[in-house]
Parts: sequence; structure tokens; C-alpha cells
Amino acid sequence: MTEPRKIIIDTDPGVDDAMAIFYALSSPELDVVGLTTIFGNATTETTTYNALALLELAGRSDIPVARGADRPLVAAYGGPVDFVHGADGQGNAGIAAPTTSAASESAAEFIVRTVMASPGEITLVPVGPLTNIALAMRLESRLTENVHEIVLMGGNGFCPGNVNPSAEANIWHDPEAADIVFGAACPITMAGLDVTHKVQMTNIDLARIAAMTNPRAAHLARILPFYVAFHAKYDALDGIYVHDSTAISYLLAPDAFTWDEYAVRVDCGQSFGRGKTIPGEGVNVNEEAWAGRTAVRILTGADSRRLVELELSRLAE
Ligand code: BDR
Ligand code: CA
Repeated sequence: MTEPRKIIIDTDPGVDDAMAIFYALSSPELDVVGLTTIFGNATTETTTYNALALLELAGRSDIPVARGADRPLVAAYGGPVDFVHGADGQGNAGIAAPTTSAASESAAEFIVRTVMASPGEITLVPVGPLTNIALAMRLESRLTENVHEIVLMGGNGFCPGNVNPSAEANIWHDPEAADIVFGAACPITMAGLDVTHKVQMTNIDLARIAAMTNPRAAHLARILPFYVAFHAKYDALDGIYVHDSTAISYLLAPDAFTWDEYAVRVDCGQSFGRGKTIPGEGVNVNEEAWAGRTAVRILTGADSRRLVELELSRLAE
């Protein structure tokens, strides 16, 4: 087998973040070299606590956690989304307090140090607001040429948002950071709502998680009902959208996806379009705002059943 891919997951756990973290940890193709934390679903204080606690629950406290920014680059933090993920970010189900602590360096410092120590080897997998990634790029201008790839969950190229008709939650929390990241000169794949709304786990799939006996699946079974109730109420869905795990699935099975490639800008205005990811017409788009920008691989379709079965098989291990 080839060497596992080294990834850093930048995360705001978060019910679906917890699923994605456990999915990655149980995938031998991936080597999770660190978690970096960010506000979004809950405060950075809470998401850092959760990241440490989730790793401890999984028996993987050897993986470092670096605490990230407490607020967006420019605007104020929009506040925890407790109606989606619970006040504790874990479906109000709680998680045993971690006995470990976050690293002494910040998330941005951790990302820079880790990427620069292994040039071309580290894939960044942000599944929350992009503040830490933008800060890391500011800290080290050579970061983008030394990162292997960025595979992020966020944005909506060709479909409505989920915070409002314009914006997806991760981008909405910090549009200025997102516009910096989408402007980076490195390979970028965007697993946004265009694809994550097409990857769904039904309540029958979730019952299979509840029947698993390992401690990671047992925790997911405790936190998922709150998230399921949110989807039932706001999306009339019999199950959940698979957001953050879809970024992990892309790393494992890129051939299960379809995509288009466009330069992407983010609306950083102060009106109703704020946070919308706007694809240009193509790589060489003749519009100043998009010109010269990286062609982002925007995932648009996926073999949902194949990916759900893959994730369920990994969570069962
Ligand atoms: C994204 O927002 C958060 O609620 C989820 O964790 C996911 O990262 C989906 O829009
Ligand atoms: Ca998330």
C-alpha cells in the first residue's frame, strides 16, 4: 500500500465534524497529523474542547490539537448555531471532558510549521470557516507553494446557500478569509452544497451507526438525533446531508465525483449577497476580479450511495 496521505483537519466540531474526524481516523489511506480548531458551529473555546475530547474518545490523543482564531478576520463572530449542533456543539449530548490540552502554538502557526517541515506533502482539509487558513497564508507567503492541496467543505457555486439564499455557513462566517483562500495559488477542491446536498444519509443509514458497538459510533449515535431533528424541521429531510465527511470521501474516492473548474470569488459586501461563492466563467475568465485566479475544482455530483456505504464501513471499524 502507498504511504497514507498526511492531512490537517481544520474544524469546528460540530456533529458532522465529529463524523468526518472519526471517518478520517478509521481510514488507513489517511494520516491525520493534526486538528486545528475554529469558531463556527460553536465558539473556538467549545470546538477546541470538543476536538480534544473526540480524539481522546477515539484513543488518538497522540494527534495534536492547535487552537485557532476566536473571531473572523474583519467582522464579528455571528455566534454559535446551537439550533443546528446543540449548545455544546455535540447535539446537547455532552462528551467526557478531555484530560489533554491544546498545543502552545496557534492553529495558523501549527499549519505553517507542519507544512513547511514537509514541503508538498500536507493536504489541508478545512471543514469550518476559513479564518485559520487565511491567517496561515498571511503568516507564511510560501505556504501555498508548499501545501499539497486544499480540499475544503464550504460554499455554494450553483445552488442556494443554507444560512440564507446567498451563503453557505462556513463561508458566511468569514467571507474575507474565504476570498483569500480561494485566491491561493495551489490546487483547491471545493466540496460545497452543490455536492453535499446530494450526499445524504437516511434514517435507515443512521440506524446502522446506532447498531455499531465501537465507542466512536456510540458517541455519534448519541449526538446525531439533534442534527436529524434539525434536518427534519428545516429541510424536511428523512436523515441528514453529509457535509464535512464529503471532503474526506473525496480524498478516499475522487472517482465517485464529478466537477467543474472555475475561478471563485466570494462576495465580501455588506448586503444580502455577503458570503456567496461566485464561480467565474472559466479559468481564463475575462473579468478583472476573477482573472488570474486558480481554477477551483467545484464538486457538483457524486455517487451518494457508494460514499455512504464507504463511510458506514469505516465507522464500523
Ligand atoms: C457546514 O456548516 C456547519 O454547520 C457544518 O459543520 C458544515 O461544516 C455546512 O454548511
Ligand atoms: Ca464543520
